[in-house]
Amino acid sequence: MLELNIPSKEHDEAKQGQALVLEASKNNNGRKLYIESYGCAMNFSDSEIVASILADDGFVTTADFTEADIVFINTCSIRENAEVRVRNRLKQFSASKAKNPGMIVGVLGCMAERLKAKFLEEEKLVDVVVGPDAYRDLPNLINKVDDGNKAVNVLLSREETYADINPVRLNSNGISAFISIMRGCDNMCSFCVVPFTRGRERSRDAHSVVKEAQDLFAAGYREVTLLGQNVDSYKWASEDGTEKVNFAQLLEMVALVSPDLRVRFSTSHPKDITDEVLTTIAKYENICNYIHLPVQSGNSRVLEIMNRTYDRHWYMERVEAIRRIIPECAISTDIITGFCSETEEEHQDTLSMMDFVKYEFAYMFSYSERPGTPAAKKFKDDIPEDVKQRRLEEVIAKQQIHSHYRAQQRIGKIEKVLIEGFSKKSKNDYCGRSDQNFMVIFPVGDAYKPGDYVNVLVEKTTTATLIGKVVQ
Ligand code: 5AD
Ligand code: SF4
Repeated sequence: MLELNIPSKEHDEAKQGQALVLEASKNNNGRKLYIESYGCAMNFSDSEIVASILADDGFVTTADFTEADIVFINTCSIRENAEVRVRNRLKQFSASKAKNPGMIVGVLGCMAERLKAKFLEEEKLVDVVVGPDAYRDLPNLINKVDDGNKAVNVLLSREETYADINPVRLNSNGISAFISIMRGCDNMCSFCVVPFTRGRERSRDAHSVVKEAQDLFAAGYREVTLLGQNVDSYKWASEDGTEKVNFAQLLEMVALVSPDLRVRFSTSHPKDITDEVLTTIAKYENICNYIHLPVQSGNSRVLEIMNRTYDRHWYMERVEAIRRIIPECAISTDIITGFCSETEEEHQDTLSMMDFVKYEFAYMFSYSERPGTPAAKKFKDDIPEDVKQRRLEEVIAKQQIHSHYRAQQRIGKIEKVLIEGFSKKSKNDYCGRSDQNFMVIFPVGDAYKPGDYVNVLVEKTTTATLIGKVVQ
C-alpha cells in the first residue's frame, strides 16, 4: 500500500493537512478554491489533478479557507483516527460557512468513497462528495451545487488513470514531484480499506508517464517518485497489444529521461518485487537505492490472515536478494501491531524480523479495524487497545535504535545529495536527500543551490538525519 515513500509525507494523516495553492488559472472565473490534503502521496498527487481540472474551469486558489468560495478536503480512510481528524477539520470550516453561506464544501478521496451519500446526512455542512475516480466530473458537480442541489459522484472506474491530465504542481519545491503510474489495488490485504475506496488496479500508459517525467525535467525538476499502491504489479500494454511494459521496464524508461533525474518509487509489495526490478535499480545510478517494502508482520500465521500472500521466509529471501543485488540499498517498512488474534510470540516475530532487516525507516501503526474490510467481516478485533499500544511502543523503540544505527553507518561516507532548499531550522543550512533517502543537512555555500547535486561528507547524525559538509 501507498502512503508514500517520502517519509515526511507518507503515512501522513498523522500530520496537518496541507493547503495547496494553485498559482495560475487560464480563464479566471473569479471564484477561489482552497484544497487541503490528508493521507498518502497518492492523495497529494490526486489534489494536483483536481487543481488542474479546476484551473481549466477558471478557478484560482487561495491558501486561506476563510476567503474561499470552494473548500475541498481530500481525505484518507486508512485508519479511524485519519477520519476523526477530517471530521474535526470540517467542524472548523463550518464557522466560515456560517459567515459565507454561499461557500461550497466538498469531500474528496477515500472517505468520500467509503461513506458516499451518507456523508451528506452525517455532515450537513458538506455539499459535494466525490470519489477518487470521479474528478473529471467536478465542474459539473459544482454547477449542480450552484443550482441549489447537493452533488455526489463516487463511481469507481476500471479505466480512469487521468493519464492525459497535466497535474498542476502544488506547494512544490520545484525539484521533486510525484508521478502517479497506476491507481487502485487488487491485493485485498484483509485489514485494508484501499481496494474498496480506490477500486481495481489499473496501470497508466507508460509513454504518458515518461512524457510527464520529461516535462518535469525540462521544467527544472530533478527527482520524480513513481506512485502506485503496488508498483511491482505495474503492467501496461498498448491497445494493439504489440507493446508491453512491466515495472522494471518502466523504471528503465524513466531513468533514461536523464542521468540527472533521480527516480524513486513507492510502494513495493514483497510478493511481487522481482529480481528484474532489483537489477534495474542496480544498473542505473539515478534510480535511488531505497525500497519501501512493507512487511506488516514478521509472523507467517499473521501474514496469512492478513492475506499478504507471502510468509516470513519469503520476505527474508526478498531482503537477501536486495542485499545481494543492491548492497547499498536502504529498506523501509510498514508495521501493524495488534492485528486480530496476534499473540505475544507472534509479536516477538515482528521484533525479530526488525532485527534481521534493521530497517532504515519504518511507519508503525496499531491495528484499526475498518468497516467492510475482510478482517472486519471475518475476525474479531480482540487485542485490547493497551496491548496494541504497548506492542507499538516496543516496535517504535526498536526502530529508533535501528534508524540511529543505519544513520551512524553513513558517518565518514560521501553522500550524493539533491539540494531541496533551506533546512527547517536554519537559513544557514541546506537540506536534501541522499540516494538512500536520508535527510542530509549541511551549510549553505555560494557554489551550489537548490536543485543541484552536491557531495556531502557525513560527520555526525541525529536519530535519522545526517549532518555534514560539502566536499568536491
Ligand atoms: N490499521 C492499521 N494500519 C493500517 N494500514 C493499512 N490499513 C491499516 C489498518 N486497518 C497501514 C499498513 C499500510 C499502511 C499504509 O497503513 O501498514 O502499509
Ligand atoms: Fe497496500 Fe494491501 Fe492495502 Fe493494497 S490492500 S493498498 S497492497 S495494504
